[in-house]
Amino acid sequence: MNQIETIISKMTLEEKAALTTGATAWNTTPLAHLGVPRLFVADGPHGVRRVADADVMALEALAATCFPTASCTASSWDAALLSQMGQAIAEEAIALDVDVVLGPGVNMKRSPTCGRNFEYFSEDPLLAGEMAASYINGMQSRGVGTSLKHFAANNQEHRRLTASSELDERTLREIYLPAFEQAVKQAQPWTVMCCYNKVNGVYGSEHHQLLTEILKDEWGFEGLVVSDWGAVHDRVASLRGGLDLEMPGPRPLRSQAVVAAVRAGQLDEALLDESVRRILKIAFKAAETPKGGAPFDAAAHHALARKIAGEGMVLLKNNGLLPLKQPASLAVIGHAAVEAHFQGRGSSQITTTRVDEPLAELKKLAGGASISFCEGYPLDESQRPDMIAEAVAAAQAAEVALLYIALPTYKESEGYDRADLELTAQQVALIQAVTAAQPKSVVILNNGSAITMSAWLNGPAAVLEAWMMGQAGGGAIADVLFGVVNPSGKLAETFPLRLEDTPAYLNFPGELDVVRYGEGLFIGYRYYDARRQPVLFPFGYGLSYTSFAYSNLRLSSPAFHDVDGLTVSVDVTNTGSVTGKEIVQVYVHDQKASLVRPVKELKGFAKVELEPGETKTVSVALDFRAFAFYHTGYGQWISEDGDFDILVGASCADIRCSASAALQSTLNLPSILHRNSTFGDWMSDPRGKAIFGPVYQQIMQPIAAVLGRAEDGEISVETNAYLMSLPLVDVLEFPGLPLEKSPGEIIDNLLKQLAG
Ligand code: BGC
Repeated sequence: MNQIETIISKMTLEEKAALTTGATAWNTTPLAHLGVPRLFVADGPHGVRRVADADVMALEALAATCFPTASCTASSWDAALLSQMGQAIAEEAIALDVDVVLGPGVNMKRSPTCGRNFEYFSEDPLLAGEMAASYINGMQSRGVGTSLKHFAANNQEHRRLTASSELDERTLREIYLPAFEQAVKQAQPWTVMCCYNKVNGVYGSEHHQLLTEILKDEWGFEGLVVSDWGAVHDRVASLRGGLDLEMPGPRPLRSQAVVAAVRAGQLDEALLDESVRRILKIAFKAAETPKGGAPFDAAAHHALARKIAGEGMVLLKNNGLLPLKQPASLAVIGHAAVEAHFQGRGSSQITTTRVDEPLAELKKLAGGASISFCEGYPLDESQRPDMIAEAVAAAQAAEVALLYIALPTYKESEGYDRADLELTAQQVALIQAVTAAQPKSVVILNNGSAITMSAWLNGPAAVLEAWMMGQAGGGAIADVLFGVVNPSGKLAETFPLRLEDTPAYLNFPGELDVVRYGEGLFIGYRYYDARRQPVLFPFGYGLSYTSFAYSNLRLSSPAFHDVDGLTVSVDVTNTGSVTGKEIVQVYVHDQKASLVRPVKELKGFAKVELEPGETKTVSVALDFRAFAFYHTGYGQWISEDGDFDILVGASCADIRCSASAALQSTLNLPSILHRNSTFGDWMSDPRGKAIFGPVYQQIMQPIAAVLGRAEDGEISVETNAYLMSLPLVDVLEFPGLPLEKSPGEIIDNLLKQLAG
C-alpha cells in the first residue's frame, strides 16, 4: 500500500470529513499524527494575495507584485510570457508561504458588460486555453499549484450565487468548456475551482456531469476540485457530484452531515475516500516544495510586470502622432495619470510592492519637454465644466495632449456587471473638448473589457488601450508612447459599436435567476461574423509602429486525414522601418457541415518578432480538433469529409491569405438513426444510403404516382424534398409499396442490423 492509501486506511470517518472541508479561510485541515500537512491557498490570478492572517477573509494582504490582469496578458497573445509570469508568481508564493494560487480564470467573455472580465482572457476558447495552460505550466514547474476557475459557465456577476446558466450541450462543449479542457489536458492544474452559479439548474458545486463525468473521467483531471468560496449549499450532494474540498472552513455542521450521511448509508464512503485521496495527493505534492525562506526579487518582478504590460497594450488608432517625437511640451490630463488604475476590485486585489505613477514615468522618458497636469474628471458621476475648461486651456498651450482615462471601479468590478459600455459622461465630454482644441491628442484607456467610443473616436490622433495593466503599467504606457516599446498587442475580444449589438444583449443578465444563453455558439466574433455586423474594433486587431506583409501561404498537404492534422506555413515580412512583433492568426472555415457552424474560428496563432526588412516563416499546426465540432447526436467531437478554408490574417477581419484542403474523416461513427428518423436522415447516413439508395426509384415512383406528381417517371425536386422530410416509417406507409412486413417491423429490423 502506498503512503496515501495507508493514511486513508488509518483515518477515522470524522477526520475524512474534516479534511474535505477547510480548517480556516485559506487552509486545509492538517492531520499532524498522520503526517498530513496543511495546504495554504491564496488568491490570484495576476499576483499573490496572501492574507496576513489565514483565519480571516480580509482583503489586506502581504506585499506582492501586481502583474497585468488577464485582459492585458491575453492581448499579448504570447504564451511564453504567461509562463514567465506564472513562474514569477510562483517565486512570490514560495516566499510568502503559499502552496496554491487561485487562478487563472478562463471564463468566456460572453458579454463585455461582465464586471469581472478584467480577470478573464478572451471571448475565444482557444486563446484563453493557450494562455491558461502556459501560465499553469509556468507556475507549477516551480512547485506551486494553480486553481483553474470558475468551472463552468460563470459569465456574469449579476446574481452569480443564485442564477442558472442555461445552455445547450453543444454550446457548452464548443464555447464554454474548451479553455478548461485544454488547460486540464495540457497543464494538469493542481486544483479546479467550481463556479457559484448553477448550470442548467444544478449548482456548479454539485454538478456530477461537469465535475465527475467530464472533468475527471473524460479529461483525466488528476487534481482536486475546490469550491468557490461559499459555493457549497449541500455538502453531501457536492461530494456526490465530485467536489473534493469545500472552502472556506471550518464548517463543523457540514462535516457532521457528511459523517451522518455515510453512517446512514446515504453517501458511499468510497466517494469520500476518493476526495480524501485527491486532497492528500496535492497536499503532499505541495510539501515537496519548501515554502518561506528568502524574499522574492521585487525589482526584477516589477520589471517583468512592465514588460508584460507593454506586450499586452493595444494601439487602437494612430494617425502618425505616435511614437511621440520629442515634443517640446505635453499637457497631461486625467486622474489616471497620477493614480494608476492598474487592477480591479475584488478577490484578485493585490497589496502591491510598489506602483508606477504614469505621470512620473512619462517624465522620465520625456527628455526636456515641459509637462503640465490637470485632473480632467472627478471620481464620481458629477459633471465638472470647470475641469474641462482647465484641460482645454492646458491642451491648447501644449504641443501634444495626453488623456489618461480610467473606467471607474464603481462601473466595473467583481460582484456586479456594467450597466453600459460607456466612459463617464464627464470623461466623454472631456475627450471631445480637448481633442477639438488640440488635434494632437492621445487617449490612453484603463478598463477591463470593451468600451464603446463612437461619441469621441474621431477626435484623438491616437488611442492606446492600456487595460488594467498591473503595478508597472504606468511605465509601460510611457514605453509605448515614446516608442521604447513598439506596441504589438491585439484584442482578445471584440469592441462593439453599441451595447445593443452585442451577442448576449437580449439575454443578459437574465431574469428570475435564469440566464438563457440564447446566442448559443455565437459569442464574440463568431456572432459579428455570422451577422456580418460592423464593429468598432474586431477580435485580433491591433496596430504597430511598423507594418507587415504576408506571403507564400502553404499547407502541408492539399488533402489530409483528420487525425494527421495540417501544418500551415506563411512568410511574414516587416515592411516598415522599426523592429516589431506581429501576431499571425489562423482561422478555419468549414465549407459544408451537417450542423450550423461559425463562419470561421481561431485555431492557431503565433507571435513573431521581425527587424525592418526581415522575413520569417511562421508555422502553425492544426490538429483534429481544429476541424471538429461537437455532435450531440453522437455525443462526441466529430469530423466530416469535406473542404476547409484556412484563413491567415492579422485580425479576424483582416484575412491576408487563404488556401483550402480536403479533410478525410477516419471516424467510424455509430448509426444514430432511430424509429422516427426521416427518409432524408436515412439517405444522409452512409449505412442508410447503402440500404435505400439502390431502391430509391422503387419507393419513390409509386408514391409520386399516388401524389399525382410522377412526371415522365422523374421524381421532381419538390416531391423529393417533401418525402425526404417525412419519417421513413410514414413514407413506407404510402399505399402502393409492395411491402412484405409492416413499415414499423421493417425499420426495427434495419435498426437492429445497423446496431449489430
Ligand atoms: C471568487 C474566487 C476567489 C475566492 C476566494 C470568490 O468570491 O469568485 O475567484 O478565488 O472568492 O477569494
